[in-house]
Amino acid sequence: AEGAGPRHFLDLKDLSAETLRAVLDASAAMKARRRRGEPPAERPLAGKYLGMVFDRPSTRTRVSFDVAMRDLGGETLMLTGSEMQLGRGETIGDTAQVLSRFVDAIMIRILDHGLMLELAENATVPVINALTKVSHPCQIMADLLTFEEHRGPIKGRTVAWSGDGNNVLASWVHAAARFDFTLNVAAPPELAPPAAVMAWAKQEGARVNLTTDAFAAVDGADAVVTDCWVSMGDEDGEHRHNLLSPYQVNAELMAAAAKDAIFMHCLPAHRGEEVTAEVMDGPQSVVFDEAENRLHAQKGVLAWCLRANGL
Ligand code: CP
Ligand code: NVA
Repeated sequence: AEGAGPRHFLDLKDLSAETLRAVLDASAAMKARRRRGEPPAERPLAGKYLGMVFDRPSTRTRVSFDVAMRDLGGETLMLTGSEMQLGRGETIGDTAQVLSRFVDAIMIRILDHGLMLELAENATVPVINALTKVSHPCQIMADLLTFEEHRGPIKGRTVAWSGDGNNVLASWVHAAARFDFTLNVAAPPELAPPAAVMAWAKQEGARVNLTTDAFAAVDGADAVVTDCWVSMGDEDGEHRHNLLSPYQVNAELMAAAAKDAIFMHCLPAHRGEEVTAEVMDGPQSVVFDEAENRLHAQKGVLAWCLRANGL
């Protein structure tokens, strides 16, 4: 991803620690400018078009990319899977070649990770992963920004995950290796992170610890993170509820983490399921900062993909 050709943002594991830190710092700088009421420097993406392909619903990703692109001076096109010829069998490869003739970057949300990769292989412009069944890298850039705003540099700190070993968790694992923090993961064996994700962490020498005990995972953690029990594309909701109920983030679990631990959730949340209302709406929760930071993180990603802001 960092050689010749378009700069794709497909997975945190594909990018170096230096690149990811530069993207995060650029995001923080753009947020600071916005907070001071200053316009983004020279509208760096003026004249650029972002095609946004959504094969699945979205609130945060959709709005944050749209506003981020416009705020940087660019334009966006909303393309939903069912309205495109993709829905009638045009290949993703042909779609990639055609879109590349019109737009400067493509953002895609599609469950099939392989199709997202095929889009990137065939595109001559940058492709951004806006969530697949396998990973959600843009979310974790916003989460890292949020953690550092509340708790300072994440290097050497401890993040605990309690719940489904899903796409969001996979990107947290990639981040643990690239940003050098400890990640304790508590998940039921049936919903543990994929073996390939854990094998990658091991190969990278990342401090990623897997347990089935939520209390063991959160012990001393600076952040407690969870996600919904039933992700897009998951079936058997009831079975998942039964497996995941011991992993609910509630006041008792938060009390076992560090005293000043923050609670994080990518949203949408389900109060009374993966998190209690008390925690979700309580003083340790930073979930709406996280949502806001999608905007600022997206700007860093867009600027990097399109070689703006000195990135
Ligand atoms: N967190 C997140 O990606 O939310 P949306 O599904 O609303 O985009
Ligand atoms: N794990 C969730 C995240 C939603 C933003 C899903 O894939 O549905």
